[in-house]
Amino acid sequence: MKQIKKTLSVRAVAAQILLQVLDQGKSLSALLPDMANQVKPQDQPLLQEICFGVCRVLPRLERIIALLVQKPLKGKTRIVHCLLLVGLYQLLYMRIPPHAAVDEVVNAASALKNDSFRSLLNGVLRRFLREQAEILATVDKHWQTLHPEWLVNRLKQDYPQDWREIVEANNQKPPMWLRVNSQHCSTQDYLERLIQQGIQAEICPEQPACAIRLQSAVSVNQLPHFEQGWVTVQDSHAQWAGLLLQPQNHELILDACAAPGGKTTHILELAPLAQVIALDVEAHRLQRVEQNLQRLNQQAEVICGDASQPQQWLADGVMFDRILLDAPCSATGVIRRHPDIKWLRREQDIEALSALQQQILTALWARLKVGGTLLYATCSVLKQENQQQIDHFLAQHCDAKLEAIFGQSSVMQFFPQQQGGDGFFYAKLIKRA
Ligand SMILES: C[S@@+](CC[C@H](N)C(=O)[O-])C[C@H]1O[C@@H](n2cnc3c(N)ncnc32)[C@H](O)[C@@H]1O
Repeated sequence: MKQIKKTLSVRAVAAQILLQVLDQGKSLSALLPDMANQVKPQDQPLLQEICFGVCRVLPRLERIIALLVQKPLKGKTRIVHCLLLVGLYQLLYMRIPPHAAVDEVVNAASALKNDSFRSLLNGVLRRFLREQAEILATVDKHWQTLHPEWLVNRLKQDYPQDWREIVEANNQKPPMWLRVNSQHCSTQDYLERLIQQGIQAEICPEQPACAIRLQSAVSVNQLPHFEQGWVTVQDSHAQWAGLLLQPQNHELILDACAAPGGKTTHILELAPLAQVIALDVEAHRLQRVEQNLQRLNQQAEVICGDASQPQQWLADGVMFDRILLDAPCSATGVIRRHPDIKWLRREQDIEALSALQQQILTALWARLKVGGTLLYATCSVLKQENQQQIDHFLAQHCDAKLEAIFGQSSVMQFFPQQQGGDGFFYAKLIKRA
């Protein structure tokens, strides 16, 4: 007999996911792959849209709830609070008929064994529908950053002129970018194949030559020859890492914080005969590196180890020609792709991350050949992890010098741009004798 898999309502699963993000500090990217299996495959994009969307605009939804619910929903009733977030997000941001949206949320309360809250959910959401204009006039009276206060203060301090633009870009949905594998075809050829398939896309000036921006996101199954490794999904500014590293065939290259392998595979596209070590401290994340290498039919030595302790995974005396250090960081440059970062990250994390970055930089520098290149990269926009980190490193290491990037400045800070790439930082360090 054919077994029918029991699936749950999308709203119920979305509320459970949001509860774990907001109250247990778990990330959407850790939760979604498993939790999404609880809903029908055709509902998975809806689940994703609700979870990412709620995290993107959370403070606005919280203010509405504060106006409508007198006694905060705490403890065991937090799941009901999360159902309200889901309900309000649908009413404000999605094209679902309002009464159907309310009914779905009310029914999700039963699916989550919270029948006694059906009337509260129904009452609050229907009151919102009736009084929407007045409620929004109050809530939207002032511009909202939709960011935690500590992060806004940091951005103001680092970029007194531009912090608003960064905040606004963070609140947008990012475009989907592809990196074309030059071992298979040219960027122009691949663009033509996409257009033949009915996928609207373009090559953009001032972006890496291998980058293509899609007009709207598509499933990778729709991309021509994706399984054969012709393209990789990767943000355009992230694509500079491989290009700036300038890997050469036959060199020994370390990708120090490699998982899931987006940059390892780029290095091997650019220098297929390079000897590459892909290192990461998280064993489970290295499975993704292996999968990506397999899809692109590439070879690298994949090692699980701590980049700050090379003596634990590297024989004495082994020195690298090039090192890519895509350092663990606050990820404040990729908030539009991971809006949960705003609620998971704490201000005190920045100090700990910057100490770890410094430790890794110093440990790996000792394993770089004279004349070799270390590219330091982060997906952060905070100066403490970027410019200040490099200034400090240069002050401590007289054998390090910065090489100019793009011929103008010696380091490069990209900011998230509405139709462009994410926030990334690059510094190219050369070891002199
Ligand atoms: C920004 S992500 C790397 C993204 C990757 N370079 C790519 O392009 O696909 C940072 C990685 O650093 C790893 N990491 C954190 N601390 C580390 C350490 N001490 N040693 C090695 N890897 C570490 C994390 O597990 C994470 O996979």
